[in-house]
Amino acid sequence: MRIFSGIRPTGEIHIGNYLGAIKNWIPLQENNECIFCIVDLHAITTPYSPKELEKNIMKLAIVYLVAGLDPEKCIFFVQSQIKEHTELTWLLNTIAPVGELTRMTQYKEKSKQFKKNINAGLLDYPVLMAADILIYQTDIVPVGKDQQQHVELSRTLARHFNQRFGKTFKMPRVLLPKMGAKIMSLQNPRKKMSKTDDPKGCIELFAKPTEIRKKIMAAVTDPGRKIKYNLIKKPGISNLLTIYSLFSEKSIKELERDFKDQGYEKFKKSLIKLLINSLEPFRRKRKELLSREVYIKEILHKGARKARIIAQSTMQDVRKKMGLI
Ligand code: TYM
Repeated sequence: MRIFSGIRPTGEIHIGNYLGAIKNWIPLQENNECIFCIVDLHAITTPYSPKELEKNIMKLAIVYLVAGLDPEKCIFFVQSQIKEHTELTWLLNTIAPVGELTRMTQYKEKSKQFKKNINAGLLDYPVLMAADILIYQTDIVPVGKDQQQHVELSRTLARHFNQRFGKTFKMPRVLLPKMGAKIMSLQNPRKKMSKTDDPKGCIELFAKPTEIRKKIMAAVTDPGRKIKYNLIKKPGISNLLTIYSLFSEKSIKELERDFKDQGYEKFKKSLIKLLINSLEPFRRKRKELLSREVYIKEILHKGARKARIIAQSTMQDVRKKMGLI
């Protein structure tokens, strides 16, 4: 199977990104052809600083490595280094219904959040994402829940294109994790964890032990004191249980049993310990990689060289089918 996914280099990666996406990519490398992208062209649709972007691209490459992506087993690269992504975006634009784009949840949210900067790129964002996916003839797209709608749009565009110009693209399928597809904010468990929307409710992958302690102790809980998974009545505790379960590999049922009659404080203290221990290796490996810029750039260039071959082959077919000589 060909797998494709990506993350925007917009700053620190949080445990939502890790549990909803990256963690699930690692085992896929073993038996599939995996391509993971640093989607810098998506990152520039919201306000940003060019200097920071450059740093964030390198930071995200380090995240990919410390989380366990192996450049020998998968391809990873920077989106803007392969011009075919933007070329295919333009071509797909000519078949993308504007009505559908304006109905995308992320577009609606972002255009509310950045009222003074509702640029065309924000609206076109899912078409670029469709180009990312379709150009590699992707079978499976492992993402968190918030990106499901965009993957569905990629399918719609692939279908339209294939009907109009003849079979060209594979139909990609979304892969959501059974648990952790939507990690919620620690401050508002009805909203997804997001660094830009709510930094206090978010734990970064490289968070220091003191930050982890502070944020978990301050995490919003629910009335009562029972450790019980119930998304309607106990969204705060259910979110913490999900995080606990994914880092400890213990089932929710097991955890409910372990923490029966223990109360919120003991549960939170145990979660703090677990998170500090689980995130420590990431912080340690990052330290080792911070001084290895040349090595990381080489991995990205090598990745781009391999990805470009696939992208160019698809584009050749697309151009021919569309009558572009
Ligand atoms: P981005 O950068 O916002 O998020 C990266 C990945 O993290 C997942 N995620 C979460 N999962 C669980 N809980 C959360 N709170 C949470 N927050 C984020 C996202 O679902 C995503 O999988 N448009 C995409 C990037 C992209 C892409 C692609 C993905 C561009 N082209 C092609 C797949 C295929 C995005 O902005 O993700």
